[in-house]
Amino acid sequence: MAPLSALAASLFVASALAQVPGPLTPEVHPPLTSYKCTKAGGCLPVSSSIVLDANYRWLHNVDGYTNCVTSSFNKDFCPDVETCAKTCSLEGVDYASYGIHTTGDALTLNIYKTDPVTNVTSLSSPRVYLLADDETYDHFKLLNQEFSFDVDVSNVPCGINGALYFSEMNDKGDKNELNKAGAKYGTGYCDAQCPSQNFIKGVANLNSTYGACCNEMDIWEANRAATAYTPHPCTTNQVFACQGAECGNGEGQRYLGVCDKDGCDINPYRNGNKAYYGVGNYTVDTSKKFTVVTQFLTTDNTTTGTLKEIRRLYVQNGRVIQNAKVQIGGLENHDSITDKYCSDQKKVLGGVDAFTQLGALKQMGEAVGRGMVLALSIWDDAGSYMGWLDQDPYPADADPSKPGVGRGPCPTTGGRPADLIKQFPDAKVVFSAIKSGEIGSTFVEKRGMRWARSY
Ligand SMILES: *[C@@H]1O[C@H](CO)[C@@H](O)[C@H](O)[C@H]1NC(C)=O
Ligand SMILES: *[C@@H]1O[C@H](CO)[C@@H](O)[C@H](O)[C@H]1NC(C)=O
Ligand SMILES: *[C@@H]1O[C@H](CO)[C@@H](O)[C@H](O)[C@H]1NC(C)=O
Ligand SMILES: *[C@@H]1O[C@H](CO)[C@@H](O)[C@H](O)[C@H]1NC(C)=O
Repeated sequence: MAPLSALAASLFVASALAQVPGPLTPEVHPPLTSYKCTKAGGCLPVSSSIVLDANYRWLHNVDGYTNCVTSSFNKDFCPDVETCAKTCSLEGVDYASYGIHTTGDALTLNIYKTDPVTNVTSLSSPRVYLLADDETYDHFKLLNQEFSFDVDVSNVPCGINGALYFSEMNDKGDKNELNKAGAKYGTGYCDAQCPSQNFIKGVANLNSTYGACCNEMDIWEANRAATAYTPHPCTTNQVFACQGAECGNGEGQRYLGVCDKDGCDINPYRNGNKAYYGVGNYTVDTSKKFTVVTQFLTTDNTTTGTLKEIRRLYVQNGRVIQNAKVQIGGLENHDSITDKYCSDQKKVLGGVDAFTQLGALKQMGEAVGRGMVLALSIWDDAGSYMGWLDQDPYPADADPSKPGVGRGPCPTTGGRPADLIKQFPDAKVVFSAIKSGEIGSTFVEKRGMRWARSY
C-alpha cells in the first residue's frame, strides 16, 4: 500500500501522540473558492478548501502498516479507546486517486476510480466537507439566508446520487485528546441515519456500539432524472452517539430513533410534475448546468426567528424558475417545504409522520441556526438501488396508479451497483459557485437576456 521509503524518517516521531495524523502521505486540501454574499456588496470570493471524510482513509498502527480496522477494530491496537487513540494514525490522501478534482470554484466528484497501474476501475464514492481553514469546517448559519450552487448532473445516471447537504457536525471534527486528527482529516461525520462510524465524537467506536446521529438538511439528492430536497430533523443538538433503539436502525426500530430518517421531501416527479426535471425538453434541463437556490425563511424575517419555510428556486440560462406546484389531490398549491406541506403529505401519501413527531421545521431550524457543515458526495445504493429517489413505482411491487409511488422515471430493474460501474465508469457530478448570504443576494435574474446582443 505505502512506499517503504516514506516511512523511515517519520515512523517513530508520531508514537507519543493520540489518534494522530499519519506519517506517510501529507494531507493537502484541494482549494475550492466559495462565495459569501450580501445584497449591498454582491458575492465575494472566499478561499475555502475541501477534505475527504476520515472513514475513507487508511487508519494504521503508528509503528507500522497494519490496519487498525478491517471488518472490526484490531484488538491488539485497540483493546480500549485510549490505547486505540495512541496506537492508530490516520493518513493523508491523494485526492486525484479518489476521483476528486477542484479548479477555481468547481468541484468534480467521480464515483469510480481507476488504478493507474492495473487500470482496474472500482468504487470510490467520495464524500468531502467544505473547510473554512485547514483545521475548521465552514459553519453555515442559514436562518433567513439563502444558499445556492451550480450543478452539472449530465453525467449522473439513474441509480447514482450526486448529493449536497448539511449535517450538524462539530466545526473541528470533534478534535480532542483522543482525536488529534480533527477536521483536517475529515473526522466527525454524523447524519440523520445515525450511521456507525469508526470514531464518534472523537472516540473509537470499538464494538460498533454507537451510531452518529445529527440533524441533516438534504439540499440536493439528485441525478439527471430525478431530484429531491429533504429536511431530516433530530431531537438532538450537534453530534449524538446513539445506542440501540434510539439509533432507529434495528429491525422494526425505524420510528423509535431520535432522527427522522424519512424526512419531508419535495421531489417534483413524485409530486406529479413529470415534465419538470430531466434531460432535454424539461422545465429544468439536466443536460446543462443550472443553479439551485434554497431559502430558509423564518417567521419574523430575522436570523434568530423560527424556520417556517424552505423554498427552492432554479436559475437556468439567466431565467429564474419557480419550484413546481404539487399535482396531487389534497396537496394542491404546495410548492415549498412548510410544516403544513409535510403533515399533509404524510396524510395523503401515507406513512409515519416522524417529521412532525420529531419537531418539524422548528427543530430543523434550530440546527440551521446553530450552524451546519456542508457535505458533498456521490454514491450508489446497494440496498435499494436508489429507487426511493428515481424509480417508478417504488417499491417495485407498489400500485403505480397511487399518487407519490413514482419517484422518478428510472426503471425498477436498474440501479444495481455492479451494472452501473460497467455501464457508467465515467459517472461524475460537478458542483460549483457555492454561495450563501442574505435572501436574494446569491443569484440574479437576467431579464431580457435572450435578446441581448454582444456584437
Ligand atoms: C492501462 O491503460 C492504458 C491506456 O489505455 C494502456 O496503455 C495500458 O497498457 C493499460 N495497462 C494495463 C495494465 O492494462
Ligand atoms: C467491546 O466488546 C468486548 C467484548 O466483545 C468488551 O470486552 C469490551 O469492553 C467492549 N468495549 C466497549 C468500548 O464497549
Ligand atoms: C417541449 O415540451 C413541451 C411541453 O411538454 C411541448 O409543448 C413542446 O412541443 C416541446 N418542444 C420540443 C421542441 O420538443
Ligand atoms: C417577511 O418578508 C416577506 C417577504 O419579503 C413579507 O411578505 C413578510 O410580510 C415579512 N414578514 C414579517 C413578519 O416581517
